[in-house]
Amino acid sequence: MSYDISLIPGDGIGPAVVEATLPVLEDAAVAHGFDIETTRYDWGTDRYLADGAMMPEDGLDELRRADAILLGAVGHPDVPDHVTLNGLLLPIRKGFDQSVCKRPAVLFEGVESPLQDYSGGDIDILVFRENTEGEYANVGGREHKGFDNEVAVQSAVFTRRGTERVVRAAFEAASERDGHLTNITKSNAQAHSMVFWDDIVREVSVEYPDVEVERLLVDAASMDFIRRPDEFDVVVCSNLFGDILTDIGAIVTGSMGLAPSANIDPGGDHPALFEPVHGSAFDITGEGVANPLATVLSGSLMFDELGEPAAAEALWDAVAEQLADGDAPRTPDLGGESTTEAVAADLRTRL
Ligand code: NAD
Ligand code: IPM
Ligand code: MN
Repeated sequence: MSYDISLIPGDGIGPAVVEATLPVLEDAAVAHGFDIETTRYDWGTDRYLADGAMMPEDGLDELRRADAILLGAVGHPDVPDHVTLNGLLLPIRKGFDQSVCKRPAVLFEGVESPLQDYSGGDIDILVFRENTEGEYANVGGREHKGFDNEVAVQSAVFTRRGTERVVRAAFEAASERDGHLTNITKSNAQAHSMVFWDDIVREVSVEYPDVEVERLLVDAASMDFIRRPDEFDVVVCSNLFGDILTDIGAIVTGSMGLAPSANIDPGGDHPALFEPVHGSAFDITGEGVANPLATVLSGSLMFDELGEPAAAEALWDAVAEQLADGDAPRTPDLGGESTTEAVAADLRTRL
């Protein structure tokens, strides 16, 4: 068996973490009786600066052939983020109908949380973020630029299909995990979209009598991600809320450098995209110290989605074992002094 994986290393620390992760994925694949064939795309801001586009016009057609996509990061200090992100990452998520974004936040054994009294095993959250619409809809515009009556409109768009897809995926996961789902909205202020969302959660909940549903407003939920992260199991929320909550989830479980994600078309018509939750990290680009583990764990989510659960588990366990080992190399975000390469090399010995 062989899988076609499209690699988009992208910008900033993206190429370094993808480069370091690839041999780790190859080792895990070989050990579990399959191959991965990779196609690398040099899409990103360097391409934009040279040719005026982040990816070719037929970029999505090119990617469509893949079994999965692994992406590093997108974003460059010399080009506005709304240009780079709307030129590469966001069009893939939307164009491939990847309406479900799955983001685990796990506090591994041996990793220090900035929260007092939390240690390995205490936090295990799985966030389901709506991923193609909501607050990220490209609906709106700017008028009367530069005049004092200048106006900017950015409309959030919530569809029954998009909302139901992510809500259903979250219920499915909750019924397989601890049976607890937290629905996070802002229906006290946003009486249309968020009340609609709550209605859909209520409708779908009827099909999952074994899942207990808790409702939180996003402001209080942000507080509770810090005050009582141990009490969350599965979380479901809109695009923007999920974006923000998963950075909180990443840091309370030790580092941005440990948080993986999967962008999935639940209809199964398009390849899924796997990427670390973090971005280009300009502040450490080129220093060789970016933590590759978020990308490795994203590879684990990728193998799972491809139907290779044993390889997925082997990767996840190798990361857990490395983090639990006080003598293993660690990058500075985890308090160590090791390089990206050293962490990846150590991981290979554990597979
Ligand atoms: P960021 O995630 O890049 O960095 C935030 C902080 O976390 C920085 O201090 C950084 O050094 C640290 N960090 C992130 N990843 C790390 C890793 N692997 N190892 C060690 N430390 C790590 O967020 P930002 O600074 O807000 O964004 C920088 C750029 O990345 C912007 O252009 C932004 O738009 C873009 N971005 C892209 C993605 C993506 O491609 N999926 C995600 C988030 C941000
Ligand atoms: C993420 C990122 C992106 C998002 C940005 C870069 C558009 O922050 O994947 O979390 O907001 O989805
Ligand atoms: Mn984000």
